[in-house]
Amino acid sequence: MNSENASIIKPESESLKGSSGDYEIIKITDLRKAFGTNQVLRGFNLSLYKGENVVILGKSGSGKSILIKCVVGLIKYDSGSLKVYGKEIKDLSQSELDDLRVKIGFVFQSSALYDSMTVRKNLEFPLRRHNLHFTAKDIEDKVKNTLQDVGLLHAIDLMPSELSGGMRKRVGLARALVLNPDIVLYDEPTTGLDPMTSKEITNLMLKTQEKYNTSSIIISHDMDCAKRTSNRLAVLSEGICHAVGKYSELEKSKDEVVNSFFL
Ligand SMILES: Nc1ncnc2c1ncn2[C@@H]1O[C@H](COP(=O)(O)OP(=O)(O)OP(=O)(O)O)[C@@H](O)[C@H]1O
Ligand SMILES: [Mg+2]
Repeated sequence: MNSENASIIKPESESLKGSSGDYEIIKITDLRKAFGTNQVLRGFNLSLYKGENVVILGKSGSGKSILIKCVVGLIKYDSGSLKVYGKEIKDLSQSELDDLRVKIGFVFQSSALYDSMTVRKNLEFPLRRHNLHFTAKDIEDKVKNTLQDVGLLHAIDLMPSELSGGMRKRVGLARALVLNPDIVLYDEPTTGLDPMTSKEITNLMLKTQEKYNTSSIIISHDMDCAKRTSNRLAVLSEGICHAVGKYSELEKSKDEVVNSFFL
């Protein structure tokens, strides 16, 4: 039933299912991507089911960011299939891709805020860009509500340079959520933060899933975040999905690669 190439760990089929049914929102099959001779993805398989959070574990440079950039069409894969809502990403026109991106929030590894714009303008950007015909009042309300959700309404008129690392991460999160997406892709949302702030961000991610019923792929080295947010974890190693399963299953694994993340 499931095509994940967890060649080493094969958890019980039950655990391969999403927690809220079987509907695959994202289905990645035999995905390949190389940069010259650097073969980053070498036949990666994974599905994301509706309502679930999958955490991707992998060493630095293993291709985690490349993988989720392929999902939103920021990077073009060489071969294989990557379907979101049943649509093959590489076959989409620019306007179809833009429409799809409205439904996908992307929290960048670096926060990727526009340094010359205030927090408010950073959040307004996706609302205006997608030509969604929001009124000025709609935009104002959405920006304020989303900032309220991440506890940063007071920072609305600050510039990114005036924010702490944790605040930047939260604004990055708010910008990804402002369009009320169905899918959120998180690229290391807690990396570089102190444990308390990491916990706060993790709480926000859980709150987001609950409030907006989102499905997420979360790249994280933070095992506390991984444990608390994941319905399943997938280990990306040597370009493939080396192992997949629940936290409780993988933490007991004797496999060397899997084990290395739980030490
Ligand atoms: N635009 C690019 N051009 C060429 N090579 C790239 C490009 N982006 C990434 N790579 C290469 O692809 C590989 C995977 O990079 P990626 O950023 O996905 O790693 P990662 O798993 O996210 O690592 P980290 O945990 O450090 O963020 C690396 O070898 C990197 O050098
Ligand atoms: Mg990365």
